[in-house]
Amino acid sequence: MLMMDSARSHERSTVFDRMLAPVHRWIWSDANRRVQKLFRFGETETDGGRDILRAAEVTSDPLLRRLYLEHAIDEFRHGVLFRHRAAALLKASTSRSTPGFKGEWLAPGGHGLDDLQVDGESDCDMLAFLHLSEKAAASRFSIYRDVMEHDLPTRAIFEEILHDETFHMNYTLTQLVRVEPQRHSRHLWRARLSRLWKAYLRLATGLAGILGSTLLTIQYFVLLPPFAWLARRAARRERCGWTIVSSERSNSLERQY
Ligand SMILES: [Fe+2]
Ligand SMILES: [Fe+2]
Repeated sequence: MLMMDSARSHERSTVFDRMLAPVHRWIWSDANRRVQKLFRFGETETDGGRDILRAAEVTSDPLLRRLYLEHAIDEFRHGVLFRHRAAALLKASTSRSTPGFKGEWLAPGGHGLDDLQVDGESDCDMLAFLHLSEKAAASRFSIYRDVMEHDLPTRAIFEEILHDETFHMNYTLTQLVRVEPQRHSRHLWRARLSRLWKAYLRLATGLAGILGSTLLTIQYFVLLPPFAWLARRAARRERCGWTIVSSERSNSLERQY
């Protein structure tokens, strides 16, 4: 682990995340949902680690390369921790039912690192993006840890990962200021706007999905019944059993009657 003061700035959840604490508590209270979410978090962390590994390959800054490598190792480890915990919960679980609602919108995986596009990004943009992503992760994980009173082993995992995310949040800001001492705020604002835009797109996509499902459900109950009624009426008019077809109608080899 790098000898950097990881506790310089402590994790602090945002007001929005704190407001949603009761919702998060409800989402995490279901054991099956918890398993699904932990597996999903494991994937997100591992994918993020892979992207940061790529960032270490493309940067020309030796210090950043070293930090990115440490960072990637941390994210891979987080992925393993989440997956192992999910597997342990799954093993202990007696029910095999899968919940329909997983609360992906309301309790997403920490980073938003899935939005990361490494190639073509400057070191400053990369650091600004990483700093905001890690800050968001630290905020959410601190809430998830707080609402996990009923599952102490999972809580301990969030606590451990939260420590790393706080370190990631701090080192990315420190390095951004080092690489771009004059204009680091501008990079941060640009990254904030980019995250806001992507959040809007995600929300719009989610709403479009809900609207689509609602409209299809309405169509199912409003448009299909008349057709069902017409089909039943036609079926009632049909004569039962075999129907005798006149000989002149049954001579054709091109049609049935
Ligand atoms: Fe992580
Ligand atoms: Fe992280």
